[in-house]
Amino acid sequence: MNMAIVEEKRTVSEQAIDLEVNGEAHRLSVQPQWTLLHVLQEKLGLTGTKEFCGEGACGACTVIMDGRPVLSCMMLAIECSGKTIETVEGIAKANHPLIEAYIKHSCMQCGFCTPGFVVTAKALLDRNPNPTVDEIKEAMVGNLCRCGTYPAHIKAIQEAAAVLKVTAPTGGARP
Ligand code: FES
Ligand code: FES
Repeated sequence: MNMAIVEEKRTVSEQAIDLEVNGEAHRLSVQPQWTLLHVLQEKLGLTGTKEFCGEGACGACTVIMDGRPVLSCMMLAIECSGKTIETVEGIAKANHPLIEAYIKHSCMQCGFCTPGFVVTAKALLDRNPNPTVDEIKEAMVGNLCRCGTYPAHIKAIQEAAAVLKVTAPTGGARP
């Protein structure tokens, strides 16, 4: 006996969201289950933000949202409409001193965790232009590096802070 196989096709309705990413406004159509990380990588081609654990445990996917670091693998894109996002690409494009300091102090081996560290460090320096070692350690506690590059990050962040101090007339952080 022939059995009819009925293929059920489920359609997932997409919804429009507005995001400002690295200073550029975007209107995007997203599915409800898509993460912010997925949208940054697949819809905007911003592959600098990395997925390591995919479950909020490593910090590799960190971006800055409305001024604070968030884990983009844990955010639904649909809930981010109207937000302002900064990724490692924006930080590099702005020639933030962290980039030079990270290169100078060889903060990467495989480099997979590096964008998340840079983004978290940028958020730290934005709110605290002159962090102590303990404050740096506290801010970076959510970023994991399997290659063990931790000491180099502290030196690089301190150096970037010193450069910002010299280049920012008011002594504050650059945007
Ligand atoms: S990939 Fe998001 S926290 Fe690890
Ligand atoms: S440099 Fe390899 S995981 Fe950090």
